[in-house]
Amino acid sequence: MSEWFIYRGTGDPDPERIDRRPAPPPWRDFGAPPIDYRVPEADSATTRRLGTRAVPLAVPGSEALRLINAALYLRRPLLITGEPGSGKSTLAHDLAFELGLGRVLQWPVVSRSELRDGLYSYDAIGRLQDAQLARLEDGEGGGNGPAGGPHPAGDIGRYLRLGPLGTALLAAERPRVLLIDELDKSDIDLPNDLLNVLEEGEFTLPELERVADRPGQQTVQVLTDDGLRAPVTGGRVRCRAFPVVVMTSNRERDFPAPLLRRCIHLDLAAPRDERLAAMVQAHFGAGSYDEYIGLVDRFVRTEADGGVRPTDQLLNAIYLVQHTAGRHPADQEAVADLLMRPLDNGPR
Ligand SMILES: Nc1ncnc2c1ncn2[C@@H]1O[C@H](COP(=O)(O)OP(=O)(O)OP(=O)(O)O)[C@@H](O)[C@H]1O
Ligand SMILES: [Mg+2]
Repeated sequence: MSEWFIYRGTGDPDPERIDRRPAPPPWRDFGAPPIDYRVPEADSATTRRLGTRAVPLAVPGSEALRLINAALYLRRPLLITGEPGSGKSTLAHDLAFELGLGRVLQWPVVSRSELRDGLYSYDAIGRLQDAQLARLEDGEGGGNGPAGGPHPAGDIGRYLRLGPLGTALLAAERPRVLLIDELDKSDIDLPNDLLNVLEEGEFTLPELERVADRPGQQTVQVLTDDGLRAPVTGGRVRCRAFPVVVMTSNRERDFPAPLLRRCIHLDLAAPRDERLAAMVQAHFGAGSYDEYIGLVDRFVRTEADGGVRPTDQLLNAIYLVQHTAGRHPADQEAVADLLMRPLDNGPR
């Protein structure tokens, strides 16, 4: 194993390793002053995907580990391509788990996604309704809330919610892991729009910039993607440690060269051998790989037909065999055949 690796893909958590990185290159040094924000622990999205046991991502010294670590050192986003089910999205969770970086911020991209969705949303209508309610309650006087205190509509931060990208750029002490999942499903503009934010590590909220000179409004507590509140000063969010950004793609389309230039590209091969064994054991316990080696062989062997074989098919087949068909050995074959079909031969 190379000494310089921060992420080792062994699945053994070591939260201190990330702090041993050298200082960022000057062109990736953002260094905003730290804010008071407590990052939540990993949630069930991570444990569901990783299972119960540490899984080595790749054989030590492999190209994948080198590329991932290069991205960590250079403070650059990782762009991960690969077949469906090769473990692209789970890699973000694995990074967060091993480096102790807490809850993974997830942005599932769809064709309608815009940059603004990832950064923040402003519930102007909700605020207007609350303000109208306040006027009714106070006979047009306004100003007081239900318990006689200031009315919620006066607190603009309650109506501003940072999205996953916006939250990842908060100046927390340690970097967050941000998964921008299936970027290739986006509208043609999104990859270009992302460029600037990923390059500058900051963005503004005009709604807050406008009120920043009013008394008490210089720093506003806004909602975050974690469901917590975080201070934003002067309407500007700027990162301290650049987040660990994992962008995934099923190669449904190409990305513009300026985006590719700013990312580290990793093509993740489908898991086989040790990595597949580790995944099976992560979800079904030690010894399960040997117990279900028949199914594993079948899964790997049928790959020779050239079809796409997502790991989930094997995991699903093992689960079903374990819980139902296992009692009837003949069914084992039938279940395997039904579930483990190449995707390209699937429903049209
Ligand atoms: N490190 C890992 N540990 C345990 N299980 C894993 C790991 N990586 C992947 N898996 C399992 O493999 C399956 C496929 O992984 P994942 O969903 O990340 O693939 P993907 O490449 O993102 O697929 P898609 O392109 O369809 O989104 C999941 O069920 C996941 O639980
Ligand atoms: Mg995925």
